[in-house]
Amino acid sequence: VSSMEPGSTEAPIRSREVRAATRPQGALSVDNFEVCTVTVPPLGDGEVLVRNEFMALSAIMGNLMGAGPRSRMPMPLFALGEPLSGVAVGTVVQSTDAAFSSGDLVQHRLGWREYAWGPAAGFRRLDRGVLPAPQYFLSQGPTAWRGMVDMANVGAGDVVFVSGAAGGVGSLAGQIARCRGAKRVIGSAGSQDKVDFLVQELHYDAAFDYHGPIQERLRALAPEGLDVVFDNVGGEQFEAALQVARPGARFALCGVLSSQVTTNPEADMFLRVDQVTAGMKEVVLRPFATRPTAEWVPHFAKWLDEGRMIFPHTIVQGLDNAPAALVSLLGGQYKGSVIVQLGARP
Ligand SMILES: NC(=O)c1ccc[n+]([C@@H]2O[C@H](COP(=O)([O-])OP(=O)(O)OC[C@H]3O[C@@H](n4cnc5c(N)ncnc54)[C@H](OP(=O)(O)O)[C@@H]3O)[C@@H](O)[C@H]2O)c1
Repeated sequence: VSSMEPGSTEAPIRSREVRAATRPQGALSVDNFEVCTVTVPPLGDGEVLVRNEFMALSAIMGNLMGAGPRSRMPMPLFALGEPLSGVAVGTVVQSTDAAFSSGDLVQHRLGWREYAWGPAAGFRRLDRGVLPAPQYFLSQGPTAWRGMVDMANVGAGDVVFVSGAAGGVGSLAGQIARCRGAKRVIGSAGSQDKVDFLVQELHYDAAFDYHGPIQERLRALAPEGLDVVFDNVGGEQFEAALQVARPGARFALCGVLSSQVTTNPEADMFLRVDQVTAGMKEVVLRPFATRPTAEWVPHFAKWLDEGRMIFPHTIVQGLDNAPAALVSLLGGQYKGSVIVQLGARP
């Protein structure tokens, strides 16, 4: 008899979760979150209970808490008093659905809590052996792939620029371009330490700090012009990339960090397009949204195995440290992905 069944004598499972407590006034702070404990209810038919192991943090979570230019968000904010959500992986500990068994590794969107439960349709089984460790399933690779491959079709001979290159998405986008045969990959980031990281660890051909004359730096690093731009930042970096683009350049428009991560409530997430230049060059501007793809994991596994790619990530220990880690992520303190090990007792 498990603790989830009627008549069980075992203590019910308690699960801790992080909730949105208040909206940020200005920058996001740990005071905007609260950690609460709930009792896991008995499972209904066709449901699963999962002990969460890891969850991913991402820049958009700050916006969903209400930080930044919230009036422009096209999706609902995290509800106050409710647990936050986000992609996570964990192990099934109980299932009333024939498709799942105890011990299965699954991915789902009920992060920010120690245990996740609900209808089986919300969970996807993963093949543990395919990637080196469970947190690898939480990479931002599907987004980087969608932009670099599906939108920009990056390939041999391309001169590529990735803005926000040291972040969760950017750190994989540049490596994908390299693996697909790009001729030259250039990245931007916000500090010399990150610039060194791009060149030394991610093997970018060149990188620069965007605190300075962006267009001049980009032009000096890509005198022949840009064929592909993977833009995480918008603002001045997008505008500079358009000036340095070659005719027909392909732009994968992923994000607008320069106006997402702001305390200015008047900021918006719009791009300013110099339409005459864009028109003369007939550049292709492709904003996109991540879609589930079966292509990423096999390519990731192969490139990791061949030593052609690394998964830069920091593991933050414990649910309680997740809010502070998100604040630090927005403050530019990490390189690569930020993953929280949730650490509920087995
Ligand atoms: N289209 C989609 O479906 C999709 C899916 C996922 C993510 N995204 C977007 O992709 C972008 C990257 O996401 P991520 O989670 O990987 O974030 P991230 O790059 O890890 O975000 C944190 C980084 O943002 C940079 N940053 C902060 N303020 C900045 C500013 N004013 N100008 C330039 N950079 C700034 C900081 O790097 P520095 O130290 O270098 O400044 C910081 O390390 C975001 O815009 C996100 O919303 C889009």
